[in-house]
Amino acid sequence: MRAVFVYANQKAMPAFYRPLSNDIANSALQTARQIYASQGLMGSMCFRLKELYMLRTLILASVISATAFSAASAQNVEVIKQRKELFEAMGKAAKDPGKMMKQEIPFDKATVEAALDTFIEKTPKLPDLFPDDSKEGGKTEALPAIWQNKKDFTDRFTKLVADAKAAKGMIGDEFALMEKWPTVVGNCGGCHKKYREKKK
Ligand code: HEC
Repeated sequence: MRAVFVYANQKAMPAFYRPLSNDIANSALQTARQIYASQGLMGSMCFRLKELYMLRTLILASVISATAFSAASAQNVEVIKQRKELFEAMGKAAKDPGKMMKQEIPFDKATVEAALDTFIEKTPKLPDLFPDDSKEGGKTEALPAIWQNKKDFTDRFTKLVADAKAAKGMIGDEFALMEKWPTVVGNCGGCHKKYREKKK
């Protein structure tokens, strides 16, 4: 029992301190105290402490299994976070050129070139960030279809880089932007349509 408790303590303490776990523990302890009181066991401190100790172990054990479960699927939360950050950066880079397309802001060549550079730099890192154990967790919007069509999925990244490289130096004014930009960012939307969960 003691070994379990020590193990439980080590493994579960961080989880135990979360508000929810604390609430559960506190209310369970309170219930136990009430039961002891109602049974006139208040005098027997040793017994009561031992019971509380065991009860705590039970609570910790259940917290452990919850923690262990989330740890199993959390294994690749880091990879999911990394790919989201790369996509995030690409989304940010695409924003202003998108506004230029809609003529909301004036054309600016440097901004467009910088966006293309971001795509060229970030995209090649992406294919490796979809390992088999990253299908779930971390609020991923990745669809299972990715792992059923891995080659098509990866080829789309390759095409994005190729199109971004082809557009580099070719977008000198807003007319060129109108013509070339959709070819590049069409890769984004095309892939999202097939492989990314739609926002609710
Ligand atoms: C080959 C497929 C593919 C291509 C090409 C692609 N994306 Fe994505 N994108 C995804 C997938 C899959 C996700 C969901 C990732 C996740 O949630 O784990 C995503 C997510 C995103 C997100 C949300 C990130 C977040 O924080 O949840 C943004 C923004 C984004 N992509 C922008 C872009 C832009 C901009 C481009 C083009 C320059 C692009 N993507 C090209 C597949 C693609």
